[in-house]
Amino acid sequence: MLVDTYGRVATDLRVSLTDKCNLRCSYCMPPEGLEWLPGPDLLTDDELVRLVSVAVGLGVTEVRFTGGEPLLRRGLVSIVERVGALSPRPRMQVTTNGIGLAKVAPALAAAGLDRVNVSLDTLDRERFVTLARRDRLVDVLAGLAGAADAGLTPVKVNAVLMRGVNDDEAAPLLRWALGEGYHLRFIEQMPLDAQHGWDRATMVTAEEILASLQAEFDLTPVGEQERGSDPAEEWVVDGGPGKVGVIASVTRPFCGSCDRVRLTADGQLRNCLFAREESDLRGAMRAGASDEELGARMRASLLAKLPGHGIDDPGFLQPTRPMSAIGG
Ligand code: 5AD
Ligand code: SF4
Repeated sequence: MLVDTYGRVATDLRVSLTDKCNLRCSYCMPPEGLEWLPGPDLLTDDELVRLVSVAVGLGVTEVRFTGGEPLLRRGLVSIVERVGALSPRPRMQVTTNGIGLAKVAPALAAAGLDRVNVSLDTLDRERFVTLARRDRLVDVLAGLAGAADAGLTPVKVNAVLMRGVNDDEAAPLLRWALGEGYHLRFIEQMPLDAQHGWDRATMVTAEEILASLQAEFDLTPVGEQERGSDPAEEWVVDGGPGKVGVIASVTRPFCGSCDRVRLTADGQLRNCLFAREESDLRGAMRAGASDEELGARMRASLLAKLPGHGIDDPGFLQPTRPMSAIGG
């Protein structure tokens, strides 16, 4: 098993399939994009499936494909199919910006994908262009509908609120999500952008988000025992069945119940989103390491996992890689 010295067990593997993206969200990337990982550094489909298979052998039960934008990975459907054929079969999810999802959702569902998580921060076309620097709101909405039609449900929507940009959209986004039958979750902005523009003082907090939701909706907290290792705190809206979640990564960190571990597109294992060190599984694998040796490296990496992210510590240092290269 992938345990750490604080008794946490990693069962949720987030795999970044590419660091590239077709949007340029301001809290993530500069307008010109980033210097992408060189092709030969990326894991091949075979290498990736092999590492996931080793992790599944060590108790991983949930595999989430992320990026960058995972739908840009050519082999995605076949990767899903191959991971779904592992035994025991892990649950599989894709975290995507939704562009192109309408077209590929049926194939993903047929390949065995269980669910999708779509990022959407605004319902206003002009704001979308300001936030994501591309005029693609229509494609994202079509992607959401396509995922629901393909049975990739419950469809989850992630939203990040930015002060002065879309911080007035908490309630409108929830009203819309309830109407569409999507499960909305707000995520506090974290210091993971390539431009290092994050500022604790101006970040929109969970408390503010809840206050603006409560002005319009009646929110009843879902019990702590039902939360488990879910990073989102959940509320039932207006007596149900609709719910809303808030992921307060910064103001109410949930590191104590973390069950996550991450694999970057270039084959580095990270025991935390904010880790300062990585374990080079690609190098080991290309040097001929056996599955046992790769597993031992994974276990060693988890044993070095720190108790928390320390965003509020005076000595906090942002990870050298941005979110798009780590996998969210
Ligand atoms: N802080 C919080 N969430 C972020 N995301 C990307 N960058 C950040 C950040 N700095 C979100 C995306 C997506 C998910 C993978 O993480 O909006 O929903
Ligand atoms: Fe887990 Fe690291 Fe996230 Fe904390 S910051 S919840 S330890 S991945």
